[in-house]
Amino acid sequence: MRSGPAVRRLSDWDAERLRALAGEYETPLYVLDLDRVRENAARLRAAFDAEEISYAAKANTTRPVLETIESTGVGAECASAGEVERALAAGFGGGDVRYTAVNPPDEDLDYVVQAATEHDLIVTIGAADTLDRLAERGFSGRLCIRANPGVGAGHHEKVSTGAAPKFGVPLDRVPELASEAVDRGFDLVGLHAHAGSGISGEDLQAHRELVARMGDLARTVIDEVGRLEFVNVGGGLGVPYREDESPLDLEAVAAATREAFGDVEATLGIEPGRYFVADAGVLLTRVNTVKPTPETTVVGVDAGMTTLVRPAMYDSYHAIRSLAPDAGARETTSATVAGPICETADVLGEDRSLPDPERGDLLAVGNAGAYGYEMSSNYNSRPRPAVVAIDGETARPAVRRETVADITELETWSK
Ligand code: LLP
Repeated sequence: MRSGPAVRRLSDWDAERLRALAGEYETPLYVLDLDRVRENAARLRAAFDAEEISYAAKANTTRPVLETIESTGVGAECASAGEVERALAAGFGGGDVRYTAVNPPDEDLDYVVQAATEHDLIVTIGAADTLDRLAERGFSGRLCIRANPGVGAGHHEKVSTGAAPKFGVPLDRVPELASEAVDRGFDLVGLHAHAGSGISGEDLQAHRELVARMGDLARTVIDEVGRLEFVNVGGGLGVPYREDESPLDLEAVAAATREAFGDVEATLGIEPGRYFVADAGVLLTRVNTVKPTPETTVVGVDAGMTTLVRPAMYDSYHAIRSLAPDAGARETTSATVAGPICETADVLGEDRSLPDPERGDLLAVGNAGAYGYEMSSNYNSRPRPAVVAIDGETARPAVRRETVADITELETWSK
């Protein structure tokens, strides 16, 4: 597998090809490059060569992405019954699928317990009473306990998970729960924790601390219950969203992770989502209006917070590039790129230096492969965009554009 460069910038995408795709499939349009997904998988595999890798499917569950990642030989970490169903449908072997229960609805547990009789899924619990709920359903499959390591990290407080009480069993209660699970006949195979999402720079210290705590916990639990197959220290590997940001040194992260883990008789595992897919995707959007104002030039585009919510939700920065054929020959303007949603937060980028925008221009938004289409919505009755997957020279539609009829079809009210 080719591992490619450590980062693919928005400027590396072929403008002519993107213009052709927008012409054929219209906008807003997500473009996913499966070759880049493979390259990202190959770099992860090379750095974490002795570790178990799962893909956190929540970053992007479109079928071509799931199939491509499955073919690289990694497992799937799923946050819902729906994700489990889609991972299995895309070809992941049952034994490689993990369901991470976060306050799981009954229907999730019903589905997962049923699926576990056929597929050897791993169910990760984050609360002691989930054990009772699994026992009530006669679950006898592989079990993992998610610990709350008391240390969080991430690109925004809203994605710092490790210390949030919502997630995981408090660290000091895990050994007792592990013993209880074994006494009650569960097949306890692993421990799990996740610090947060978008870890880079100084967050790496928090990641190391989490891994060290999990190493200690694993040694205690193994002493008490005899054995564990794995300890998964979560995902969260960050990618550079800004053009001048450096990519993570994966080899160094892997070495630091191993060192912090120490000597444990269980396989170390990671479950990144973003790292597999972020720079494998761009969002294409068309300029609808150009409005000079005293403060800035507002560039109104056809994609907004319903297409890509990250800027509105986390103040996330995504690079924006003009794909106008003559972009290089234009003067530049400082612009605010705003969507068509009636909300102040509906801005994809502020103070962006862009070649003088004109109506009809095509813009590309970078790093849109992770948590882009996946978090899109129908707010303002905006149909969700289409997704096209490119693989070498070929391009194939992956998800068709939604219509207003698709949205209203769910309504059951009649006069
Ligand atoms: N494992 C668990 C248990 C998680 O909760 C997550 C992410 C991951 C793995 C993968 O994290 P990643 O490697 O993708 O950073 N919507 C936010 C990110 C929320 C992530 C939630 N959990 C965003 O757009 O930044």
